[in-house]
Amino acid sequence: MKMLLIILCIFDMVSCISSISLWPPSPGYYPSKKFRSVSFWRGYRNLWGPQHQKLDQNALTIWLDRTSGSGFKSTRPFRSGYFGTSIKLQQGYTAGVITTFYLSNNEAHPGHHDEVDMEFLGTTFGKPYVLQTNVYIRGSGDDNIIGREMKFHLWFDPTKGFHHYAIFWSPKEIIFLVDDIPIRRYERKSDDTFPLRPMWAYGSIWDASSWATEDGKYKADYRYQPFVGQFTNFKAGGCSAYSSLSCRPVSVSPYRSGGLTRKQYSVMRWVQRHYMFYDYCKDHKRNRSLTPECWLRARR
Ligand SMILES: *[C@@H]1O[C@H](CO)[C@@H](O)[C@H](O)[C@H]1NC(C)=O
Repeated sequence: MKMLLIILCIFDMVSCISSISLWPPSPGYYPSKKFRSVSFWRGYRNLWGPQHQKLDQNALTIWLDRTSGSGFKSTRPFRSGYFGTSIKLQQGYTAGVITTFYLSNNEAHPGHHDEVDMEFLGTTFGKPYVLQTNVYIRGSGDDNIIGREMKFHLWFDPTKGFHHYAIFWSPKEIIFLVDDIPIRRYERKSDDTFPLRPMWAYGSIWDASSWATEDGKYKADYRYQPFVGQFTNFKAGGCSAYSSLSCRPVSVSPYRSGGLTRKQYSVMRWVQRHYMFYDYCKDHKRNRSLTPECWLRARR
């Protein structure tokens, strides 16, 4: 068995990783089941690349080729909420290509916007996708953009089927979830390190050859076009920016006031131990004074 695995690993990195990968323990709570699916047109509109976007039933396909990528945006801005969608990624050579699901207010605040990202970074043959999570607060248009990246591999092959990816954002915390498993929690430790202005939800596929794959070493190769992202099962629940101020933020745990259960925390730590390979707070090449949340204690 061991010999077989070694041979498999020499010839096919992806099957190798999937055959030795471990599945996380159960989170015990499934927020995606709490929120209704909404049809694409009820929640979203095309933002760019309309000719590279196709809606069939409730499954949206967007693609990137030599001429264009494509993106969509929620019709409403939100003050808080749960934003989820099931995504299936393109197989094969996808270096330079990124498929995204994120919150942003970059059109409302150009040059100093907030953003919360889930970005799937394409890959070369036989290597696994990277899920990069990120939080920007009042990112500036100059060179001083401060990213807060945490990067993961997944415990499944995201090109083989749909998996549910979600961003939860409340005035207290941001939680990233994959198939209802919390993989990262970003707390509001100070007002300066937390996005507080309304954001819209977005999805897109585009060419980020300059940085996406191994820091830009591998570029998009259009011999493999089109690069296709499939999105379905859109979920959104929360407080739109137009709702009354008494609207209570939703929660991704049984606790109405937010936070996670002990079981959810323990699965999150399990995922971070086994599948996270980059944490900006532990990057010694970075200037720690720019990311005080890495060492500030949580507010109680
Ligand atoms: C780190 O950032 C602070 C705040 O912007 C700045 O004053 C300091 O010079 C920076 N340190 C380095 C080593 O770049």
